[in-house]
Amino acid sequence: MPADMRARLGQADLPNLVLSASGCAGAGRELAQFIDVARVGALISKSIMVEPHTGNPAPRLAETPSGLLNSVGLQGPGVDAFLQRDLPWLLSRGARAMVSIAGGTVDEFAELASRLSDAAGVTAIEVNISCPNVEDRGQVFACDPGAAAAVIEAVRARARYDIPVFAKLSADVTDIVAIARACVTAGADGLSMINTMLGMAIDGDTMRPVLASVTGGLSGPAIRPVAVRCVWQVREALPDVPIIGMGGVRTGKDALELILAGAGMVAVGTAIFHDPSACARILRELDDELAQRGIDRLTEVIGLAHEPRTAAGRRLARNPT
Ligand SMILES: Cc1cc2nc3c(=O)[nH]c(=O)nc-3n(C[C@H](O)[C@H](O)[C@H](O)COP(=O)(O)O)c2cc1C
Repeated sequence: MPADMRARLGQADLPNLVLSASGCAGAGRELAQFIDVARVGALISKSIMVEPHTGNPAPRLAETPSGLLNSVGLQGPGVDAFLQRDLPWLLSRGARAMVSIAGGTVDEFAELASRLSDAAGVTAIEVNISCPNVEDRGQVFACDPGAAAAVIEAVRARARYDIPVFAKLSADVTDIVAIARACVTAGADGLSMINTMLGMAIDGDTMRPVLASVTGGLSGPAIRPVAVRCVWQVREALPDVPIIGMGGVRTGKDALELILAGAGMVAVGTAIFHDPSACARILRELDDELAQRGIDRLTEVIGLAHEPRTAAGRRLARNPT
């Protein structure tokens, strides 16, 4: 019998814990030609902003060993078009929408939270704080506990009470636990981690940067160990806070690794580009991984790697009598 893979996101019951990561499935339509979007745990939209944006100039993608560098930027139609066109489409397909929001000021984030709260059908909000703060010399919100907290506090204050707010963290910081703590204290209901990591590639032939924007975000298997470390550290410090783990998940075993580190849900990003049905496949593979270990409920393994082991590597009984 398949294991119980259901997950809870605020008030919503998700059929399973495998989500599509922000920016890797647009607003869902791109995926729909390959899979039934209602079968994905939830779709996390590309980060939406108040106004439409064209994103960064090309070239904006570069392949690297075990990873992808992108400088797509926050290309998107703006919140009005998202609410009029994309959200109704997702709902008509029976999908669950976790809407990612991005802004350059605290007020923009707050406005987005309030606009989304007026619409029916938003399952959760993911706050992409890896954005430059235009009011503070372009410092990225996610890299400063005070700035991150200011955004989350404003979003939580304006988001409808029944819509969970997840802060999406960056691993490009010295102390991710400090940022996680600041976000949770400011009202975040959960944490998503990790976003892409800042990288760069130089073309040996042209002897110039590959990306027009010079730097870009690194994703894919190259960053998985960083994601595992971040989820582990935050789970250790804040064991009760729900975590969506992401970063380089390609297989069910990769997903299991993040779950063992403490993630209750897993999002798949870059893997979708070469396998649009990756979410469904990874869910199947995860089910096999659990079956091989005789586990029938996913909740049994969330954060399990934190439990002490005997010298022989056996799990200790949780409540020895
Ligand atoms: C092309 C591309 C676009 C992305 N756009 C966004 C975005 O709009 N907002 C966001 O929070 N994360 C964005 N991400 C980051 C992913 O959601 C995810 O956090 C990251 O890629 C790590 O997961 P992965 O290795 O499975 O891709 C983007 C990633 C890629 C590759």
